[in-house]
Amino acid sequence: MRTNLLYTPTRDYEQLAGNIRRRLDRPLVLVGMMGAGKSRLGRMLAKSLGLPFFDTDAEIEQSAGCSIPEIFERMGEANFRAAEVRVFQRLLDQNGIAVIASGGGAVMTPAVADLVFADTLSVWVRADLELMMARNRRWENRPLLANRDIRQAISELMDKRYPVYARAHVVVDSRAGPATDTLHQALFALSEHLDTCAVPR
Ligand code: S3P
Repeated sequence: MRTNLLYTPTRDYEQLAGNIRRRLDRPLVLVGMMGAGKSRLGRMLAKSLGLPFFDTDAEIEQSAGCSIPEIFERMGEANFRAAEVRVFQRLLDQNGIAVIASGGGAVMTPAVADLVFADTLSVWVRADLELMMARNRRWENRPLLANRDIRQAISELMDKRYPVYARAHVVVDSRAGPATDTLHQALFALSEHLDTCAVPR
């Protein structure tokens, strides 16, 4: 995994996007905690790279015809996790090169982790607990946080999940400030990664 220590705000980001686009031969998948900003960064990356964008939660809600909390309530978490595996298989089979934002727990299912860490270019969108708490005042659509002390529940999930997220090829720190800063950081880190690494299939 590479970090983005050499990030310089003066780079020509369009050129970086062009470099990424030329070299990218697989989908980009964003992993990380709920509330870290995966969907927002995913949309911006897709726009800047001229690629389609998918969000696995939205795909599941669309095909189930109900919301994530309703799916958890009616079918249970295990069925939701099984749906995540199917969505990943479908998106990776059918949609070629695209940007995909994953639900925060998806890569905790080994079948999803196998697909994401072997067959895609994975990006861990990392944000610290304080930023996630400050950014997300409305957590009610996250069933895993229902009736819990939010700070405690999130920090427990972080402990469990960080070793898995750390398998990602690239890490991008989502910080307070303009969203474009995070986008630029991601473009820089991805371009650098693709310049130096042939991700083994
Ligand atoms: C979950 C994260 C959510 C959603 C579901 C479970 C998790 O997605 O998939 O509530 O286990 O962390 P976001 O990460 O997009 O919030």
